[in-house]
Amino acid sequence: MAKYGIVIPAAGQGKRMGAGYNKQFLALMGEPILVHTVRIFQESNVVSEIVIVGSNDDISVIDDLVHHHKFDKVSAICKGGVQRQDSVRAGVQALSPTIQRVVVHDGARPLLTLEEFHRFLGAAEKFPSAIMAIPVKDTIKQVLATGEVSLTLPREYLRAVQTPQVFDRGILEEAHYRAVSEGYYGTDDASLLEWIGYPVQVIEGSQENIKVTTPEDLWLAERILAQRLARL
Ligand code: C5P
Repeated sequence: MAKYGIVIPAAGQGKRMGAGYNKQFLALMGEPILVHTVRIFQESNVVSEIVIVGSNDDISVIDDLVHHHKFDKVSAICKGGVQRQDSVRAGVQALSPTIQRVVVHDGARPLLTLEEFHRFLGAAEKFPSAIMAIPVKDTIKQVLATGEVSLTLPREYLRAVQTPQVFDRGILEEAHYRAVSEGYYGTDDASLLEWIGYPVQVIEGSQENIKVTTPEDLWLAERILAQRLARL
């Protein structure tokens, strides 16, 4: 397998958590969420380098966490931007030039397992870009500003998209470069590739790979981790 460079965007403000500070530092089983996330990649034998992107105020806290946990694959901690996309772009720029395959994974998704990550990479290997996603359970409707339904989308074709997302570095850089020069913003990196017409392959993800965004998510994440520990 190729050696992968990982970019972890962790520069969000976490307003939906209501904690008053970056949600990535909230404790999950006694450790900050971000520590759980970085550990996945520190422990993977196909990862050679990790870049963490934090907000300006958090860089020194992240630096302390990295040293305390001896995360020696972390090669850079860089400053994020206003939008997630700006943060990822900064992270990709900080990767060593030798890295040709890049994985982007949200700092707020601490429950991805090493097995799931490696299965994803194996399935993604033959594609220039691939994303993890799961079928949606609910019916999804598009709604007007008035609250009236304008469209019901056929559920069998819908997926809830997660990270990790993996890309050939050249394609990812091109997509980010073109997006920033034309002022285009997407909520994930794959959408930038779609926007310039590159194919993106979907690989089935895991129901447990949640993004810890609200207090309910934190409660659920604790339950999932407790169950995993009980199974050991
Ligand atoms: O905002 P959202 O929940 O989509 O954020 C997903 C991930 O991107 C989080 O880990 C968050 O910290 C990160 N992010 C970032 N820079 C931003 C906004 C979000 O690194 N400006």
